[in-house]
Amino acid sequence: MKIAILNGSPRKENTAAMADAFAEGAREAGHEVEILQVGKMKINGCLGCEYCHTKGEGKCVQKDDMEKVIPAYLDADMVVFATPIYYFDMTAQLAAAIQRVYCIGKPAKATKAAMLISSGSPGTGEGAIATYKNMLAFMGIEDAGVCALAGEENKSEEKLAEIRAWAKSL
Ligand SMILES: Cc1cc2nc3c(=O)[nH]c(=O)nc-3n(C[C@H](O)[C@H](O)[C@H](O)COP(=O)(O)O)c2cc1C
Repeated sequence: MKIAILNGSPRKENTAAMADAFAEGAREAGHEVEILQVGKMKINGCLGCEYCHTKGEGKCVQKDDMEKVIPAYLDADMVVFATPIYYFDMTAQLAAAIQRVYCIGKPAKATKAAMLISSGSPGTGEGAIATYKNMLAFMGIEDAGVCALAGEENKSEEKLAEIRAWAKSL
């Protein structure tokens, strides 16, 4: 299957290590994986202008890095949302990338999704997880699981190995 990992972190640190571990495990199982570091991209918020659903025929009126993300969304059998926790939520960059999918309705082929969360303290990702689960229910996509690492766990080789094994088992 084709897997698109959207990393909402602007840094290549803790969340990136989780995304890389997931990608390694999935690739070992023969899946094709693309990591998009949306946290470093220029992605504006949705304007709510409805151009996409009227004149635009599914195309967004805004020309920014979302043009790189939409093809990956459309092609993916599975989408993995990876994010650090910023003030009890996913990053604004990842939220923007998710909300801009409005122009295509939902990822056309995706049947599965997963979430990777990195935070400083444990138990701070509940808001991000709730958004993720609500979105999946709305889009009719199966939740393959959520992995949340906090504090020292972020540097744990054991935890990253668990992510590799999980991704390999998909
Ligand atoms: C702006 C900002 C807000 C943050 N808010 C939280 C928070 O609410 N709860 C928490 O546990 N950690 C918070 N953190 C810590 C990050 O979630 C944590 O350092 C994470 O591992 C960073 O991931 P990264 O290395 O992929 O950027 C915050 C960090 C930043 C920069």
